[in-house]
Amino acid sequence: MLAHNQGIVIPGYTMSAVPDAIRPDAALIAALERSNYHPLWDRYKRITPMAPAAGDAPMHWRWRDFEPFTARASREVPIEDVERRAIIMVNPAFGGATTTTGNLIGAFTILNPGDRAVPHRHTASAIRFATRAEGAFTIVNGRRCEMNEGDLVLTPPMCWHGHINQGEARTVWFDAANMPLVCDLDASFFEPGSRGAEAFWEVDEGDERLWKGAGLAVPGQTGAASAAHSAKYHYPGAVTRALLAAIPPGDDGARHLRYTNPATGGAVMPSLDCYAMRLARGAATRARRSTANAICLVVSGSGSSTVGGATFGWEKHDVFTIPHWTWATHTAAEGHADLFVVTDRAMYEHLGLLREEMQ
Ligand SMILES: [Fe+2]
Repeated sequence: MLAHNQGIVIPGYTMSAVPDAIRPDAALIAALERSNYHPLWDRYKRITPMAPAAGDAPMHWRWRDFEPFTARASREVPIEDVERRAIIMVNPAFGGATTTTGNLIGAFTILNPGDRAVPHRHTASAIRFATRAEGAFTIVNGRRCEMNEGDLVLTPPMCWHGHINQGEARTVWFDAANMPLVCDLDASFFEPGSRGAEAFWEVDEGDERLWKGAGLAVPGQTGAASAAHSAKYHYPGAVTRALLAAIPPGDDGARHLRYTNPATGGAVMPSLDCYAMRLARGAATRARRSTANAICLVVSGSGSSTVGGATFGWEKHDVFTIPHWTWATHTAAEGHADLFVVTDRAMYEHLGLLREEMQ
C-alpha cells in the first residue's frame, strides 16, 4: 500500500512545517524529536493528506520497443535461470524498485520450446494472460490450464504453479503480480518445488472441469471455495470475447467485465482484481479515477488514452499504467479495442478505502 512512496523522498517529512527558528515551540519540537516523539500539530497535513497523490506518473511501454528483448532473452539468459525468464516493466519514479505502478508489477515471460519453469508457490498473488496460442500450459495445484490467446490463468497465493512450453515456437505471455505490496507488508513467503518432480507435469485439467459452467456449481463445494480466492483458475479468452460482444456499454461508454470468484461473485483474489474492457471506435470513455492502481494490456486493436496529463497512442500488446487517483479516458482508433486490466481494487474494497469517480 505504501509502494507508491517507495524510494521517493517526501521533503520535510520529519522536519517541522515552519522553520524552527520562527516557531515559538521550536525548542519543544526539537526536544520531542530527540526523545522519539512527533508533535501532530506541525505536521498533520502530511500525516492526514487531503487526498491521495500517486508518486508515479502514468507510463506506457510499446510492444514494438519491447519485442526485440524477447528474442535476446530467449538466447542470452542462462538455462539455470529459465524459470525466471521474465522482463518486468518498471517506472523509474519508484527509485530503482522493481515496481510497475503502486502495489503491482507487470511483465512478459519468455519460454522457448521445451522450457519448463520449475514449480513453486508464494504468498504473492499472480496472473498470466496469454497473448498468443503457442502450446504453453500453466499447471496450478495439479490442474493443467491451457493458455490460448486471451486466456487468463490465476496463480492464487500459495498455490503450486509451473509453466511449460510444449509448442514449436518461442512463446511470450503477460504476467502481473503484487510483489511490491507483499514485500512492503513484509509478508512474502516463497517455497521452491523440486526440479525433478515429473509427476507435477503429468496432470490433466483435473478439478478445473468443475468450474467450467457459469451458473452451475457442485453442491457443498462452493462454500469451501469461497473462503480465500477463486476455485476456478482458468478463464478462457473465447468466453470473455463472446461476453464483451453481448453486453451493453457501461456508464462511461465502454463495456466492462470483471473476472470473478464463481462462489462469491467478487474479485478472483483478495488483493488482485482483473477486468476486461471493450472500447467502441472513436468515442472517448468518460474519465474515471479510483483509489486503486491499474496496469492495462492492449489485447487487440489500437487507440489512445489520456491518463493524468499524458496522452499516448497504443497498439496491440502495449502496456500502460493508471496510477491511483489519476483521471483516465480511452478511445479506440479503428474498430473496437480490447484491454485487459489488472488492479489492486479488491484490496481497497476490503479495507473500506475504495473511492471511485467519473466525470
Ligand atoms: Fe510464481
